[in-house]
Amino acid sequence: MPGRSGAGGSPRPFDRVVEGDARAVLDSLPEGSVHLAITSPPYNLRRPYHGYADDRPHEEYLAWLGDVWRSLYRVLVPGGRFVLNVAPTSIKDFRPIHHDLSTDLRRLGYIMRTEIIWYKQTMGRRTAWGSWRSPSNPHIVPSWEYVLVFSKGQWKLPGDRAQIDISAKEFETFSDGFWAIPPERRRNGHPAPFPEGLIERLVKFYSYRGNVVVDMFGGTGTVAAVARRLGRHYLHIDTSDEYCRSALARIRAARPPRGSPIPAPALATGPIVGPVLGPRE
Ligand SMILES: C[S@@+](CC[C@H](N)C(=O)[O-])C[C@H]1O[C@@H](n2cnc3c(N)ncnc32)[C@H](O)[C@@H]1O
Repeated sequence: MPGRSGAGGSPRPFDRVVEGDARAVLDSLPEGSVHLAITSPPYNLRRPYHGYADDRPHEEYLAWLGDVWRSLYRVLVPGGRFVLNVAPTSIKDFRPIHHDLSTDLRRLGYIMRTEIIWYKQTMGRRTAWGSWRSPSNPHIVPSWEYVLVFSKGQWKLPGDRAQIDISAKEFETFSDGFWAIPPERRRNGHPAPFPEGLIERLVKFYSYRGNVVVDMFGGTGTVAAVARRLGRHYLHIDTSDEYCRSALARIRAARPPRGSPIPAPALATGPIVGPVLGPRE
């Protein structure tokens, strides 16, 4: 574990919102310091992100993400988990991007643990039927997303049993790999935020209280806010100053469990060794 800072008890350099590039910030972290990374990168589907053009040639897109996954591998602890959420691509220009990404990650040495189907229950709003009631060209509507789960080096994540916070009922429910969770409706000015319910399940199922949880494409701060609320240390990274500022407010408002030493976030520019811009609270 990295050394502890004085005030607030953060394992340095965590419990921060960092406005910076995912790879550069990961490269600045100590080796073996992260227990769980949960992220959803830009999907290359021309989504309107603030300050990022979501429209790269496919091979360039995969190579860019591959560099981020390589940087993440170094900072994960042995047995550390990487949860990658990715949506199916558009109906007409379908690419099996989840296959491309899982192949790349396995090539980089990650163990692929499983694939969870996040069923978004969005069929009520469908418009694209393709050829209605005809086999000539019917469409399947992507009403789900993939949640791909990997480990570094070994399946087991060592930890203190006293820091487990999942109930028997939750364990039973979450270990069924078909998760019916509606998408997030409060968007906070962002095109693709996670629903908190999805992240709560992942954090409780795959980490212990007191672990370090990172989202390197953090957007509105869902992962960091849920991690703090559940008593985990966190690191939020995003290139957009706008998203970082709204994440900062959201993480501040997410109170950790009583007696849990998880501080409010500081705001920093990347790489993470850069100055802390904002006070904690
Ligand atoms: C799919 S969104 C993540 C949304 C997030 N899961 C949430 O709940 O709000 C992807 C994010 O990646 C950010 N991004 C794009 N390029 C980046 C880079 N090089 N480093 C870090 N973040 C980046 C975008 O600004 C965008 O907020």
